[in-house]
Amino acid sequence: ENFFSIRQELAGKKIIITAGPTYEKIDPVRFIGNYSSGKMGFALAEECAARGAEVTLIAGPVSLKAYHSSICRIDVESAREMYDVALREYPGADAAIMCAAVADYAPDHCSDIKIKRSGDDIVLRLQPNPDIAAALGKIKRQNQVLAGFALETDNEEEHARLKMKRKNLDFIVLNSLKDAGAGFRCDTNKVTILTRDGEKIPFEVKPKKEVASDIISVLSGYMK
Ligand code: CTP
Ligand code: CA
Repeated sequence: ENFFSIRQELAGKKIIITAGPTYEKIDPVRFIGNYSSGKMGFALAEECAARGAEVTLIAGPVSLKAYHSSICRIDVESAREMYDVALREYPGADAAIMCAAVADYAPDHCSDIKIKRSGDDIVLRLQPNPDIAAALGKIKRQNQVLAGFALETDNEEEHARLKMKRKNLDFIVLNSLKDAGAGFRCDTNKVTILTRDGEKIPFEVKPKKEVASDIISVLSGYMK
């Protein structure tokens, strides 16, 4: 810090962000996935980096690029891989934002060979994946921040608050499904932030870049 540099608010902070979908393999050529584009998580990563943070971006399969030189991107495919990287990285971080759309279940095994078509029904048996956010919530230290997202279709606020509690989050970003131009596969989003202190902060429909800025301002408040 000297005459020529303005101190950025997240300078010296290390922030982990999970982003995108996960792919759970069925056989060598097939998987179970979801429609998450990763745009929200990548926008959060750019915003944190722009404010001076060192970002570790743990990305599921997405067709996006990270631009800022302070973003260290780690690509993963499955929930299990994302879990392993997140648990390894969190102890050395100041905060984590769980933005990935993690598959809740994965096939109990992956066939070594391509499953052949037949006229019969086939059964895929699914096993629960580990909850990455909850696992980080368990090892969270006093001075670490943990934030998550929630997408609900009913009793939105109550369900989101329960999720925040269960996973030991400091705040949760509730994605509104009701509003046009919000959610998956979209460049805009409408969110409400619920905090562990009982606050409720609603925002307007905005481009994901601006939503990211709103979220990081709240995060920054918890990091002081
Ligand atoms: N999450 C995670 N690991 C999982 C599932 C979810 O880290 N295996 C994180 C998401 O990144 C998000 C938060 O937990 O920040 C909430 O995800 P969501 O799918 O809404 O919650 P679930 O606990 O999976 O509950 P459900 O899908 O049954 O509503
Ligand atoms: Ca889920």
